[in-house]
Amino acid sequence: MRSRFPAERTMLARLLLTTVLFLSLCPSGFTQNLTDAQLSVVSACLATGATHSWEYGTRAEALLELNAPTYSVLSSSPVPPPPGVPSNLTAALADVFAIARAIVSNRGNSNGNITGPQPLLQDGSAADPASIGVAVLLANWTGQGDIDGMDYAGAARDQLDFLFQDVPKTSDGALSHRVDQVQLWSDFVYMVPPFLAYYGVVSDNKTLLVEAYTQISLYRKYLRDTHANNLWKHILLGSSGNDEGHWATGNAWAAAGMIRVLGTIQRSQYANQLKGQQKDLANWVREIHGAMYPLINYNGLFRNYPDDNSTFYDASSTALLASTVYRLSLLWNTHTYLPLAEQSRKALSAPFGAEISITTTPSKTSITSSAPSSTSSSPPSSTSSTPNMLHFTSEGWLTPVVDPYSYGSEGQNSPEGQAFVLEMQAAWRDWVADGAKGANGSSKGCPISIALVLSIVALHGASTLFR
Ligand SMILES: *[C@@H]1O[C@H](CO)[C@@H](O)[C@H](O)[C@H]1NC(C)=O
Ligand SMILES: *[C@@H]1O[C@H](CO)[C@@H](O)[C@H](O)[C@H]1NC(C)=O
Ligand SMILES: *[C@@H]1O[C@H](CO)[C@@H](O)[C@H](O)[C@H]1NC(C)=O
Ligand SMILES: *[C@@H]1O[C@H](CO)[C@@H](O)[C@H](O)[C@H]1NC(C)=O
Ligand SMILES: *[C@@H]1O[C@H](CO)[C@@H](O)[C@H](O)[C@H]1NC(C)=O
Ligand SMILES: *[C@@H]1O[C@H](CO)[C@@H](O)[C@H](O)[C@H]1NC(C)=O
Ligand SMILES: *[C@@H]1O[C@H](CO)[C@@H](O)[C@H](O)[C@H]1NC(C)=O
Repeated sequence: MRSRFPAERTMLARLLLTTVLFLSLCPSGFTQNLTDAQLSVVSACLATGATHSWEYGTRAEALLELNAPTYSVLSSSPVPPPPGVPSNLTAALADVFAIARAIVSNRGNSNGNITGPQPLLQDGSAADPASIGVAVLLANWTGQGDIDGMDYAGAARDQLDFLFQDVPKTSDGALSHRVDQVQLWSDFVYMVPPFLAYYGVVSDNKTLLVEAYTQISLYRKYLRDTHANNLWKHILLGSSGNDEGHWATGNAWAAAGMIRVLGTIQRSQYANQLKGQQKDLANWVREIHGAMYPLINYNGLFRNYPDDNSTFYDASSTALLASTVYRLSLLWNTHTYLPLAEQSRKALSAPFGAEISITTTPSKTSITSSAPSSTSSSPPSSTSSTPNMLHFTSEGWLTPVVDPYSYGSEGQNSPEGQAFVLEMQAAWRDWVADGAKGANGSSKGCPISIALVLSIVALHGASTLFR
């Protein structure tokens, strides 16, 4: 009997020590989010950096989601939105309309003044120019043509006809990602189906919404790798330039494109008629989450090829995929990967010097972290608005990132990566506003770690008692 007292005291002391230790380790960084000032620097880099077809389209989408959410397809508002522009969104939508106007007014130059079916912008990719289509359709829908004289509806119609009449396709109907040959890229899912679905909604054409779904199902049929836990391959078919690797950004493009089509259908006049399609899309997004998140690294980032440890870390795909986790929670009440998306977001929002470390097993996530200390490292000096950020340069560019123009190489400045940060932030903000459903496994990461350690210590103590 007597001998139990020292053992109990030891156990209590252990409990106390561990609690103090872990409470002191719970970093202030864990409650952090990007400030408005930081977001404007990220947006400014995106604005100057976006110069390619898909970058214009992705920037327009990111601006809608962040600054005019009710005019995106991912809020709880109906799609399409009201036909006018409310006074409190004039400035926010002006940036999006400016993209549509620049593209449509330059279309003749870009395409040699041809009439009829043509892409919004001349490009070797058959798909990427269509990504600008949603902004063009929105400009038409809100009557911008009456103000500036542009024929937005005509430009959108030509882009649609180009896809169906000029772009080569597989024998079962998957539209090519390339103009010169049939080749399927996972990127396609973000570029074309969201445009088809939005076109269907604004022109009361259910067939187009179904076509958006069908294209996605065909792309999934080809690119999903059942030998790799359902990760998507990057590029298949065609005479050269295949990439059967499971490119992280490609998986994120696919999930994010599916999320946009899901949101478009769900808020549209066809929601009740297309229930099965919504269910499939939600399951396919979750399927990609289930393939990707087990491969996330201790630092909260994916590698450029998540299942290849020899490749570099990529913050770009990490941000886009995290956005789709918040969106799936909002649109479909599925919260499975929120704890890991939260860890990615916090890692990407962390101050310089923070070291966040995650270890994952299929069923458990434990998180340890150390807050930045004033002595541990000296932050780079900077006068910009994103100084002292672990994953942003002093100019405000996300880092490290894949080169958006050479998918196997690490890059410097990635415009699409900037857009993904805005989309992640917008999705997270909307999720917080909605009550942060499913956060119980995540924002309470520290308490969970504590509970875990305490129970281990307690068990250990108990075993000592019964020895
Ligand atoms: C994010 O941080 C800013 C301050 O930097 C704060 O104003 C805002 O409310 C925070 N957002 C959320 C959803 O907590
Ligand atoms: C704009 O105003 C409407 C009411 O007219 C309001 O419901 C909405 O939240 C406002 N949007 C923003 C972004 O402030
Ligand atoms: C297209 O039309 C514009 C304006 O009429 C003209 O300046 C330009 O040279 C034309 N481009 C081609 C390729 O014909
Ligand atoms: C353009 O907008 C009008 C409403 O202003 C709509 O009726 C029409 O279907 C739209 N056209 C396209 C191609 O989206
Ligand atoms: C829907 O769009 C497709 C593709 O442009 C077109 O062939 C079809 O006629 C349209 N259907 C309706 C009802 O407008
Ligand atoms: C990659 O790294 C992780 C974490 O260090 C490790 O668990 C995994 O076994 C490695 N995979 C390969 C294929 O080396
Ligand atoms: C976590 O949150 C989700 C959604 O809010 C809820 O369904 C689930 O029961 C919660 N789990 C626990 C362990 O509290």
